[in-house]
Amino acid sequence: MAENTLTVTDNRTGKSYELAVENGSIRAIDLRNIKIDEDDFGLLSYDPALVNTAACKSTITFIDGDKGILCYRGYPIEELAESSTYLETAYLVVKGELPDQDHLDAWTHNITMHTMVHQNVGKFLEGFRYDAHPMGMLVSTVAAMSTFYDGDNDIFDVESRRLQTRRLIGKMPTIAAMCYRHSLGLPYVLPDNNLSYTGNFLSMMFKMTEQSFTPKPVFERALDVLFILHADHEQNCSANAVRAVGSSHVDQYCAVSAAAAALYGPLHGGANEAVIRMLTEIGSVNNVPAFIESVKAGERRLMGFGHRVYRNYDPRARIIKEIAYEVFEETGKNPLIDIALELERIALDDDYFVSRRLYPNVDFYSGSIYQAMGFPVAMFPVLFAIPRTSGWLAQWAEMIQDPEQKITRPRQIYLGEPTRHWAPIEGRPDPKTQEVRERFFRRL
Ligand code: CMC
Repeated sequence: MAENTLTVTDNRTGKSYELAVENGSIRAIDLRNIKIDEDDFGLLSYDPALVNTAACKSTITFIDGDKGILCYRGYPIEELAESSTYLETAYLVVKGELPDQDHLDAWTHNITMHTMVHQNVGKFLEGFRYDAHPMGMLVSTVAAMSTFYDGDNDIFDVESRRLQTRRLIGKMPTIAAMCYRHSLGLPYVLPDNNLSYTGNFLSMMFKMTEQSFTPKPVFERALDVLFILHADHEQNCSANAVRAVGSSHVDQYCAVSAAAAALYGPLHGGANEAVIRMLTEIGSVNNVPAFIESVKAGERRLMGFGHRVYRNYDPRARIIKEIAYEVFEETGKNPLIDIALELERIALDDDYFVSRRLYPNVDFYSGSIYQAMGFPVAMFPVLFAIPRTSGWLAQWAEMIQDPEQKITRPRQIYLGEPTRHWAPIEGRPDPKTQEVRERFFRRL
């Protein structure tokens, strides 16, 4: 018997099959050989939400959820947060290696030369209502960018891929800031290419009448570290979205827009916004025990807690907690932090959370920092989307060049009606009967 195989016996037929085991996995397609008879379609694996399915091979990000380890291209997140910059980390994530000085300079120059957007972007942002959520505006604007670069966007041409990558990483902060300024009715601020990536973003967000904007170094660095921590996170919901949508060979802008849409949800990148709304609603440390009880009763979720992969702690949350205090030294403490700390204290000592291995994730403290820096709550998911763009582009590029990948097309287990025939309206089941009502409600 070969060493790296799995022997499976089908008790329906008594037949045994040997499946190859490679990298700790079997190929789901090998299950198709397991059939009752020649007419049988073959066995499928059923994995809702893909909790135990590797959908790709990747060399970008490594996570050990039990040990709380996160590495980009092999480099631990703690070292990158301590010593790197966001643009250097984005280079690492996209290209696979840390740059030498010449390459870093060229990369920084190339990104910086793409910070401006077409004037028409400002014009169509005007079409959004003043209270439009900035994440909705960002998702739409990124998709709309594909119409600006239609002619020079060939996903199978490496130079074109690189150009769109620079454009997306360069323009994301500009679009994000424009969405914010639109909501306040403030004029858009042009990029200042003398500033760093995060310094320029702060300028485009907050510059008023001053000749030139000087970002606070503590904010600039804190944002840079937060951007490093958010650059990639292997096969999460939005990475899966960029790969799945990109697998139809749509352009990078539409694929990244789909990823941003996936990020928007409160279970993913929208959680940082949901955390602040939750802390504000709790209102005081005294209300924390009652809130925890409502979570345990299943009435709500403790936002910013829990993770599909991390089961002991999220290493990003630990770093973010440290940065929070650096920012609070400049701004004064965000009063919500006391509520967050009390929630964490009680939850980490409560069997409900301990037994389910629920710990603070990246979003639990990031919102408190953003809020202290003056970002409105609705901008928080946007602040996640800006740095995650490098990760999405790396995931997309890996997918598009992987000869094993095809258009994403999962299977289903059909449990619906067997074939039936259209009936004239008077001959159909009465929709008022209990059975039909239940069926309709289930479907809608
Ligand atoms: N509060 C209360 N209970 C929870 C929570 C929570 N935040 N998260 C999970 N649980 C419970 C859940 O009810 C279930 O309990 P039971 O076994 O009794 O049914 C158990 O823990 C397992 O939960 P799950 O929903 O099967 O876990 P999942 O891996 O599908 O979900 C998650 C992961 C992150 C979506 C979830 O933990 C969650 O909703 N957290 C709150 C939202 C959040 O903070 N999201 C940010 C994630 S990190 C950044 C990012 O990826 O964008």
